[in-house]
Amino acid sequence: MSQRSLTIEEHFTAEDRRAVLEHDARVGLTASQKRLSPIWFYDERGSALFDEITRLPEYYPTRAERGLLESAATEVVELARADTLVELGSGTSEKTRVLLDALVARGSCRYVPLDVDPDTLLAAATALTEEYPGLDVHAVAGDFLRHLDLLPQEGRRLVAFLGSTLGNLMPAERHRFFTDLDSSLSSFDRLLLGVDLVKDRARLEAAYDDAAGVTAEFNRNALRVVNRELDADFDPAAFDHVARWVPEQRWIEMRLRARSVQVVRVAGLDLVVHFDEGEELLTEISAKFSPDGIAAELWDAGFVVERTWQAGDDDFLLVLAKPYC
Ligand code: AVJ
Repeated sequence: MSQRSLTIEEHFTAEDRRAVLEHDARVGLTASQKRLSPIWFYDERGSALFDEITRLPEYYPTRAERGLLESAATEVVELARADTLVELGSGTSEKTRVLLDALVARGSCRYVPLDVDPDTLLAAATALTEEYPGLDVHAVAGDFLRHLDLLPQEGRRLVAFLGSTLGNLMPAERHRFFTDLDSSLSSFDRLLLGVDLVKDRARLEAAYDDAAGVTAEFNRNALRVVNRELDADFDPAAFDHVARWVPEQRWIEMRLRARSVQVVRVAGLDLVVHFDEGEELLTEISAKFSPDGIAAELWDAGFVVERTWQAGDDDFLLVLAKPYC
């Protein structure tokens, strides 16, 4: 008999999620530059669409990162001497298997996935428990911007923050996130960060505006989530998908542009939102990095880079860092 162990901790309940959405939508939809947080793409359908994005020919980051992980996993795990893999924003835990294989090869270990979507988390945690007999899975339903202090403290931890999810944070949020993470880690813990690199505009924009229109549907899913959770009546088909590289900020912006005047009732907020024709709603930023830039940001927050692995001239970067005090 295998000794399977699976626990799920809920720090982000349906009520919490709703309270955050209410706040986010109220502030964002009444601002002069309308915006919604990218956290709202990821209900069950949004997570499935994102999964589809990762297999699109134009979307290079996932493949580039997986290649790096495959060649670096053993070295990462050896350098970190970890027995616990914590994964922030774990999603379907697709790429995690590469790290888990390397970790399991060193002995018994624990996997701590943290994600906002409890359904996706449960499915991923259950599958991994079955695939890796003896792996202790301790799933945490939470938000990596709010719940770092609730992660289990035991073990030598390797904290993976992959997929360039970091790029979805604004620069000030990034700094606060790194600082919070640094203060929640011991000097034995390690951070494994995967970030997308600045590259030519055409490749960047194609990755966020694929020919099959999957990213467009993913973008519009934010409106469906607002409709369902806040009893709103957005017409997703009335908004065009926009993906634009902003060189000054070094980020891709995803927006939804109203094709015509829209009057949207958000009953759950007792709010009516007007869109002019052509008015845009900002739904995501996806910042891109340089190797020196990310090392400097990490240093400013208390981390020193131990090693990096780079794909191509400017495809993707994997960074192993440790707290310096
Ligand atoms: C969640 C950070 C990996 O910014 O590339 C993919 C999400 N948005 N296509 C990214 C996303 C549009 C994504 N990450």
